[in-house]
Amino acid sequence: MQEKEESMFTSVAETPFDERHYGAINPPIYQNSLFAFKTHQEFDLAMKDTMKNHVYSRGNNPTVEYLEKKIAMLESGDVSKCFASGMAAISSTIMSVVNHGDHVVCVSQAYGPTREFLSEFLFRFGVSTTFVDGKSMEELKSATRINTKLLYLESPTSLLFELQDLSACAALAKSIGAVTIIDNTWATPCHQKPLTLGIDLVVHSITKYFSGHSDCMGGVVVGSDKLVSKIIFKEYMLLGGIMTPQVATTVTRGLRTLPLRMERHEKSALIVAEHLTKQAYVTRVNHPGLNQHPQHELALRQMTGFSSLFSFDSDEPIEKLKQFASSLNYFRIGVSWGGYESLISVNQIDLQQTGQYRNVVRIYVGLEDPADLIDDIDNAWRQVSLF
Ligand SMILES: Cc1ncc(COP(=O)(O)O)c(C=O)c1O
Repeated sequence: MQEKEESMFTSVAETPFDERHYGAINPPIYQNSLFAFKTHQEFDLAMKDTMKNHVYSRGNNPTVEYLEKKIAMLESGDVSKCFASGMAAISSTIMSVVNHGDHVVCVSQAYGPTREFLSEFLFRFGVSTTFVDGKSMEELKSATRINTKLLYLESPTSLLFELQDLSACAALAKSIGAVTIIDNTWATPCHQKPLTLGIDLVVHSITKYFSGHSDCMGGVVVGSDKLVSKIIFKEYMLLGGIMTPQVATTVTRGLRTLPLRMERHEKSALIVAEHLTKQAYVTRVNHPGLNQHPQHELALRQMTGFSSLFSFDSDEPIEKLKQFASSLNYFRIGVSWGGYESLISVNQIDLQQTGQYRNVVRIYVGLEDPADLIDDIDNAWRQVSLF
């Protein structure tokens, strides 16, 4: 043990707690940019593998590493790497898979900046993308080309909550030698483990449920040692979008209550969603956990539960819906999700680009009492209906 304590190469994550810090119940925050060595010989040895050994925090920091090991375990992956934001993880992961001249098939309702990254940013570097709605395997298959190297998935999508058949997508990608990446932010590993269904790489916005308190930003990629190591040595190290130790420790704290929070989010969201299905101003509720959802069976097949972000369609005028949102007390108006507070946003989308707009109200059910949230919704709608 003495030998281990003095070694510069000891990874804190090898033990359940850091024996060098009085058995502190929380892992200490290693707030340092570099790690110093007693002898140049030790330094030279460490430099042979800057990812396994602690040399510089842009590569490997023990506080961040502790979190990475936990997330890899949760997602049933070999390894994970944390980034400064979900977009840093997503862009780096995509770049690790494609080269100039390659083609990508991506879900058309994937997170907006991800789509922009593919259709505009990577387009500048000779990568083309075909967007598909992702519900039909025939459509997905016919979108692939000889040079398709990536199937980018997000299931469910985070405005309309549509699913892709993950096992079928993984099989399709394998048959053409392409890699699959899925954004699993919505479901979290509590409700969906894409790697066990054959998907190659899982990305998350840690900013959402993982951190759980709307107080920090981060992202992560999880997968096989081979695929994630490739990202670590190139996109991660060269672009430098790293997670700081302070953020990692906050996320580690968040992770401890993730299963508890997800259980509560699931129950509360289903109560609120069921209530909304009975309201005259709602034409449909987009929540894969409801029997009426067109892909409910697929949801039950590939997920073990549901999270608390969903939407409803309404034929009411958009201004009235915005007034409704402004009249709520518990629900705040805003982007993102995953924290304590419930959120709402009113969106107009034109899926077919025909000038026919669809009013979609996105609801995030937080950790408040669902009875209070339902009262809030009913009171706000009564209020806007008086005029
Ligand atoms: C589904 C989804 N993926 C990825 C992201 C990007 O994450 P971040 O904002 O942490 O970069 C978001 C952000 O809202 C998201 O909703």
